[in-house]
Formats: sequence, structure tokens, C-alpha cells
Amino acid sequence: MPLAGVPECVQIVEVGPRDGLQNEHAEVATADKVAFIDRLTAAGLAVIEAGAFVSPKWVPQMADTGEVFRAITRRAGTRYPALVPNLVGLDRARACGVSEVAIFGAASETFSRKNINQGIEESFATFTEVCEAARRWGILVRGYLSTSFGCPYEGTVPVGRVATLAARLLDLGVFEVVLGDTIGVAQPGQVAEVVGAVRKQVPIEHLALHFHDTRGTALANVLMALQLGICTFDASAGGLGGCPYAPGATGNLATEDLVYMLNGLGVETGVDLEALVAASRFIEQALGHPLPSRYLRAEQARMRKTMSSHD
Ligand code: HMG
Ligand code: MG
Repeated sequence: MPLAGVPECVQIVEVGPRDGLQNEHAEVATADKVAFIDRLTAAGLAVIEAGAFVSPKWVPQMADTGEVFRAITRRAGTRYPALVPNLVGLDRARACGVSEVAIFGAASETFSRKNINQGIEESFATFTEVCEAARRWGILVRGYLSTSFGCPYEGTVPVGRVATLAARLLDLGVFEVVLGDTIGVAQPGQVAEVVGAVRKQVPIEHLALHFHDTRGTALANVLMALQLGICTFDASAGGLGGCPYAPGATGNLATEDLVYMLNGLGVETGVDLEALVAASRFIEQALGHPLPSRYLRAEQARMRKTMSSHD
């Protein structure tokens, strides 16, 4: 039984292969991306954001998303969404048999322009086209709202604007609105304030949260959000991540750290923590630098100690 006041189960949306790898300077071989995603599938993640059909000039790290989708082993029951900024992206996704995409708007004008070269109003016109085409083709759409807790260029973002834009995304027909803490500034008090305002316009079951862990508050934010009734959280294996258009943004909340906390609370996730650590260790080796997840670091230290005591 879970702790009183928190949901019995939580859905984790694994964003490491997209939000994580889009921010890596080293070139990651397509085969390594595929092997990473297949390992995440084996670890029981029910939703794995596998790439982004964005401009290769803007984000070269995602240029091979089509090849990745063609090569991964898709398990029945597991969802593999991808980011699409416009109709060109949606077409590319459809050509690879993608059945779920995510549009990504922002709650601040400057970030929207820097990230997708469109202001907020213009971007909603584009999203309307994407959602209409997706509906015709039977493709599900998730809707991110970046900078919901603060903008790297404008600072504070008015809560009322976040709520209005979240409601507009839902009106476009997205099945879920994801409030993004793009630069990891949110803290639990602010989570209560923002979710409290947004839920008046977007039913809580259509809301998800996407925390970056720049200031070490992501797990505390999740604990607050669980008590508010949120049941879907984004996270990245090993704490990979960042955003190329958000200076200073570090990795997402690490999936291992999230699963460890949820296991302790008695909340079901369906994720095998040991297999997840194996997936993170695999991509860590491919990248050639350590990943920040606290749980992963502790496991690595424990394994080293066990091995040295066998010497
Ligand atoms: P643009 O330059 O304004 O695009 O970029 P355009 O429409 O003028 O087209 C220019 C060229 O790009 C054309 O080709 C298009 O065909 C091509 P050309 O005629 O020059 O040969 N093009 C494309 N190619 C491939 N795929 C496409 C595509 N669209 C146009 N989809 C655009 C506008 C939106 C494309 C660009 O700004 C872009 O790709 N931006 C993506 C940036 C990005 O991926 N950011 C990171 C993800 S968001 C994030 O991390 C936040 C999140 O995690 C939540 C959070 O943390 O809060 C989601
Ligand atoms: Mg992000």
C-alpha cells in the first residue's frame, strides 16, 4: 500500500534518449541510441521518448531520429513518442510509423523564439495544423509547455499565463499537458501554486510534470505534486539532459532517483531498477563521462567496493 495521500501508481515518461542526448556534445552512434532504448524497454519503462523530428541544423544530435525509430525493437504496450515542431516533423514521424508525438510550446515569448523560431501566437497556429493533421492520421499528441516555472531569458513567468496557455494546448486536442521546468528553478511551494492555478483549467488527470534538477529540488517537487494528485512524471535515465536553447539547464530528474523514491513510498511504476541502472551504465560508457544520478553513483560505488573485496 502506498503512503496515504499519494497515488497507487505513477507513469514515468523516460526522456533520456531525447532530452538527454539532444544536449550531449559527443556524437552518439545510432546503434548506441538504439541499444540504449532497447535496454530502457527491457527495464519496463512504459513510455520512452525516443527522439525528435526537428531541424538537423538546429539540433544535429537528433538528426538520426528516423533511423533510430526504424531500428528499435518496439514492445507491445510500450509507447515511443517523438518531438515534432511542425508539419515537416509530423510527416517525418509518420513515415517511421510513429503513433504518438509531442508538440512543444513555451510560456515565455523569448524562449519560444529562441527554441522554435516562432513567438507564442505563431507557434499555436503551427500546433493547430499539427494537431489537425495528427487527428486525421490517428496520431496521439502530447503538449509541452516549457518555462512554466521560469524562463532563462525573462525570469519569472506569470502563473495566470501558464494556466491560460495550458488550457489552450488542451483545447487543441492534446491528451496530456506537460508543464516543463526547463531550467530547474521550481521548488515545492511554486509547484503547489502553479499546479493549483492550472488545474482550475486543465483536469489534473491530463497534467504531467517535467522537472530538470539544476538546483536539486526535482524530487521534492515530485513529492509535492504526488500529494496534489499528479500521476505522470518525466525523467531521464542517469539524469541525462538539458536544453540547447536554455543556457545553464542541466539534466532532467534522474529516473533511478525517482524510481527509488517511489519504491520507498510504495508507489508502483513497473520499472526494474537494476535493469534501469544497466541501461544508464551502458549509455554512460558510450558517452565517456559520468552521469549525475545519485542512485546510479551510489550503485557504481557499491559495485566497485564489492569487486575490490573479491580481489
Ligand atoms: P526554422 O529555421 O524557422 O524553419 O526552424 P523553417 O520552417 O524556416 O525551415 C527551414 C529549413 O528547415 C527548411 O529546409 C525546412 O524544410 C527545414 P531548407 O529548405 O532550408 O532545406 N525544416 C525541418 N527539417 C527537419 N525537420 C523539421 C523541419 N522543419 C523545418 N521538423 C524549427 C524552425 C522549429 C524547425 C527549428 O527551430 C527547430 O527544429 N527547433 C527545435 C529546437 C529543439 O529541438 N529544442 C529542444 C527541444 S525543446 C526542450 O528541450 C524542452 C522540453 O524538454 C521541455 C522543458 O524542458 O521544458 C521539451
Ligand atoms: Mg526538458
